Amino acid sequence: MPAKHIISTLFLAILPVGYCQLAQLAVAAGKTYFGTATDNSELTDSPYVAQLGNTSDFHQITAANSMKWDATEPSRGTFTFAAGDTIANLALNNGQILRGHNCVWHNQLPSWVTSGNFDNATLLSIVENHCSTLVSHYKGNIDSWDVINEPFNDDGTFRQSVFFNATGTTYIPTALRAARAADPNAKLYINDFNIEGTGAKSTAMANLVQSLKSQGVPIDGIGVQAHLIVGEVPPTLQQNLQSFVNLGVEVAITELDVRMTLPATDALLAQQQQDYQTVIRACKAVSGCIGVTIWDWTDKYSWVPGSFPGQGAACPWDENLVKKPAYQGIVNGWTQ
Ligand SMILES: *[C@@H]1O[C@H](CO)[C@@H](O)[C@H](O)[C@H]1NC(C)=O
Ligand SMILES: *[C@@H]1O[C@H](CO)[C@@H](O)[C@H](O)[C@H]1NC(C)=O
Ligand SMILES: *[C@@H]1O[C@H](CO)[C@@H](O)[C@H](O)[C@H]1NC(C)=O
Repeated sequence: MPAKHIISTLFLAILPVGYCQLAQLAVAAGKTYFGTATDNSELTDSPYVAQLGNTSDFHQITAANSMKWDATEPSRGTFTFAAGDTIANLALNNGQILRGHNCVWHNQLPSWVTSGNFDNATLLSIVENHCSTLVSHYKGNIDSWDVINEPFNDDGTFRQSVFFNATGTTYIPTALRAARAADPNAKLYINDFNIEGTGAKSTAMANLVQSLKSQGVPIDGIGVQAHLIVGEVPPTLQQNLQSFVNLGVEVAITELDVRMTLPATDALLAQQQQDYQTVIRACKAVSGCIGVTIWDWTDKYSWVPGSFPGQGAACPWDENLVKKPAYQGIVNGWTQ
């Protein structure tokens, strides 16, 4: 862990209990961090930026979009890091831990990647160069990288992405090895959704990690996104996190939110509080679960309404930046 993180963690750990908020409580529960995703377009909103930098609640940041492939290598071999650097510098200035997101994903790709009709060897060299250049650029500033994002279908088969179609599963070790070489101190993750509870997709993730480890491919963690629905937290969440940890990797909850069908009612908000508490408790109970990131902290900037029409109110703060019952759910999860 870089020195600045040790210092901020010590600082958080010695604050009096009555002062404790989400990040301090996570540390008190033995975790490395509690944090949030953010995005560049939100950084002109001063009240938003003030709370984003409030390290009592958040001492970890993930760039929601600006380190993705379309943002960082929009044309082949031409890298643009300005937007990603803005988030990295924000985290650095706030003393917050930074998560890298992501090297290889089937979505938000520039058209030169999706339409290039590259053969296996060429696409592997493109993946290697992308991961190597991206991870090198942020070397020393990033604790953990989502190197591979969403490689599976929900039935546990591999997603037929441009990468899988051309290389089979070979793009996965290629990306992981490139990331390790570029920043040997960063923890390397595979991140996916619908792997919160046990089931075919979680089994596929476990099998992949086991296979990579048996081949000596660097892999340090499994990212469990946790884009959840009110009232539907899988009852096997804690057991599943533990079974991932038992593979010899760490886990992190990387993109937590709990959406509902609008309008938000008192009953839905109460259930949402319970759901946040259940997720936090599960991470607390599993010693290899190192931290939790929410996928932005306010409904004002949640991705949910744009992707799931008619749903929303998924974050712990409402669109006026006021805490919802879910905030207390997180507090309760860390403390009870
Ligand atoms: C930081 O957040 C905590 C908990 O939400 C709050 O009590 C405190 O007032 C905030 N600090 C600042 C400077 O806004
Ligand atoms: C991958 O191959 C499958 C099966 O041929 C095809 O349906 C799918 O569109 C391909 N995906 C991409 C991104 O090329
Ligand atoms: C792609 O190339 C690698 C060797 O570099 C090989 O192991 C893998 O099987 C190839 N994938 C496909 C789909 O041919």
